[in-house]
Amino acid sequence: MLKIIFFGDICGEPGRKAVRNNLPKLLESEKPDLILANVDNLAHGKGVTVKTLEELIRAGVMGFTSGNHGFSKKELSDAAFVKYKDIIARPSNIPDTYPGSGAIKIKTDKGIVLIGHFLGQVFMEKQFQDPIESPFDQFPPWLQKNMDDSVVASLIDLHAEVTSEKVAFGHFLDGKVSAMVGTHTHVPTADQKVLPGGTAYITDVGMCGAAGSVLGMKKEVSLERFVNKGYAPYEISDDARFAELSYVIIEVDEKTRKATGIRQFHQIVDL
Ligand SMILES: [Fe+2]
Repeated sequence: MLKIIFFGDICGEPGRKAVRNNLPKLLESEKPDLILANVDNLAHGKGVTVKTLEELIRAGVMGFTSGNHGFSKKELSDAAFVKYKDIIARPSNIPDTYPGSGAIKIKTDKGIVLIGHFLGQVFMEKQFQDPIESPFDQFPPWLQKNMDDSVVASLIDLHAEVTSEKVAFGHFLDGKVSAMVGTHTHVPTADQKVLPGGTAYITDVGMCGAAGSVLGMKKEVSLERFVNKGYAPYEISDDARFAELSYVIIEVDEKTRKATGIRQFHQIVDL
């Protein structure tokens, strides 16, 4: 049985610290074969950098997915996607002009795991600066191009706003990959299950980030925008006494490539 831990959107330093502090215990108790994380908001809430990715690599995270903010740090983000192209997946349904890879293969002790990443389209057009192709159109050719006999398990991260699009995509993928996890909303859902075709599924894993925030960001900024209709730039919450640590643990039978279980965790941890 191949065991995968997947951390939901790691949001700035509070999220990175929550993972750094808690991963050693998880490695000991769960003995996972593969540790993955969504890093759309890794570097101060937007995008990735080499420095922040390396912090997680040192902590033991082995592979990454990104999202609509992945490239927000411009040259710094591009450098991370180029340097770590073998272990960080960018959305594969965005223009080819972006650096990085839409599919990564990570070698574990139990065999190779294929990881793919797509953006949703619904309500995402204002959250990404370029056109997003339909993940439903783009997944079949992606699978044909990247799946081969060496793969013992596969996982897709759909980074999307709307629950219906994610649920529908889960059914679309059922039986074709070992797992689909949803990311982006930062709010975990409790609908984890193994679908009839053997695909482990959850609509959203949730986030790793400051508790007492709005989705990892300062609550005052969010309230200013909603209550006073004022504009204030989002900032990572500095109320970082506690963090939310959201992740799933997925088990896959590497002989059949089918999932046998998925467990969801949403913990409040000290920082
Ligand atoms: Fe996102």
